[in-house]
Order: sequence, then C-alpha cells, then structure tokens
Amino acid sequence: MSVTVLASPAAVAEAAAARLAGWIRADVAARQRCDLALAGGSTPAAAYRALAAIALPWGAVHLWYGDERCVPPDHPDSNHRMATAALLPAAAAATWHRVRGEDPDRLSAAADYAAALPAALDGMLLGVGPDGHTASLFPGSPALEAQGRAAVVFGDKPPPWRISLTPPVFYAARRLLVLATGREKAAGVAAALAPQARIASTPAALAARGDWLLDTAAAADLPISASLY
Ligand code: 6PG
Repeated sequence: MSVTVLASPAAVAEAAAARLAGWIRADVAARQRCDLALAGGSTPAAAYRALAAIALPWGAVHLWYGDERCVPPDHPDSNHRMATAALLPAAAAATWHRVRGEDPDRLSAAADYAAALPAALDGMLLGVGPDGHTASLFPGSPALEAQGRAAVVFGDKPPPWRISLTPPVFYAARRLLVLATGREKAAGVAAALAPQARIASTPAALAARGDWLLDTAAAADLPISASLY
C-alpha cells in the first residue's frame, strides 16, 4: 500500500501511465498476458493518453472495465468511448472486453461480464468519487454485498444505471491503483484511507491496500505525510 502525492493532475497522469506500463511489461514478460481493468469517469483519460504514448506489447493485454454506464458504446457517457478515444490506435492490438452497456437486459449483460472475467485481474485502475465511491459501488449500495462478480447498480452519479465489478473482484485483484485529483475528492480519499474506514459507507476503502496517486488537492485531508515527488 502506498500514497504518493504529486504536484498536479498532469503529474498524476504521467505517474499512472508509468505504473500501468510497468505492470503490463512485467506480466507479459512473465506470463505473456496482462488482464487490466480500466477506470471510468474523467480522471483517467489523461493517464490513458500518456499510456498510449508508451510502446507496449498490447497484443498480450486484455482490457476490462471496473464499471460501465448502461449506455451504448458511442454515447458521451460511455467509459468504453472515453477509454478508446484516449488509447486508440496505440492499443488497437489489445483484447477489449467491453460491457454491453447498450443491452436492455442489464442483468444478462452483468452476468455475462462476470462469467468472462479471469479468476483474478492482474490490476485494477480505479477512481474515487467525492462521496467515497469507486467503480460504481456507492455508499450503502446492495452491490457491496453481492456474491457475484458484477452487479447492476442504480447509482448516485449520473447516469444512474450502471454495471459494476463487485468486492469479490477487488479482493482477488493482484494490484490496485487509485487515481484522485481535485479538492472535491479530498474527503472521500481521507475517508477511504482512514484506519477505521468502513466499506459500506466508503466503498473506495476496498482499494485501501492498493497504491494511491493523488495531487496535492485530493490529498488535502490526509493526516499522514505522504511521499511527494
Ligand atoms: C464512473 C467511474 C467512477 C469514477 C469516479 C471519479 O464510471 O463514473 O468509474 O467511479 O472513477 O466517480 O470520477 P471522475 O474521474 O470523473 O472524477
């Protein structure tokens, strides 16, 4: 577990890209495959653009999503649209495992996604919401008790209908990398990293064992002195 505080969102993006590139190179060298779950939202787009500039063995990489909005893949709210806009054409050779956000049968789309996942992801890139949510696991959500590996969620962040990976996937993941920038994330970050954090009220605590890359604004409420590059 580590917390690194960097001077700007741009520095967080560059550091995240370097970390993800290291994961990919290490896993492909060791096992000829890397299964990586991408984060949604807006924060990771700059990291994906930076990652696209790094020469990597994309043909051995399987890209998944920590969550997806229940919209078509070309919808402005689609996480797949955001990720491909940033990572293509560089990552065209990767195997993209898209969530069927457009499927009106959301339960079927979630079940199929859960069934397709590897037993353990090699890494999950995650964001944090101001309320301490991560992926589409919101405070108090029934999905936090789900036994399956993906759940349909009616969440607090628009658009409300989403499909999210669930805690069992977080627990099985080999690595977790959390990105957060901006003062509006400071309370959620501090709550997630607090020793007494409760996953039910701060789902991002699911990633407390991971590595956190923060800008100074998102780290503002942390009581600890984190390493500053
Ligand atoms: C989503 C995300 C969500 C996101 C946080 C932070 O699909 O909305 O998975 O969990 O990571 O809400 O969002 P921003 O990066 O836009 O601040």
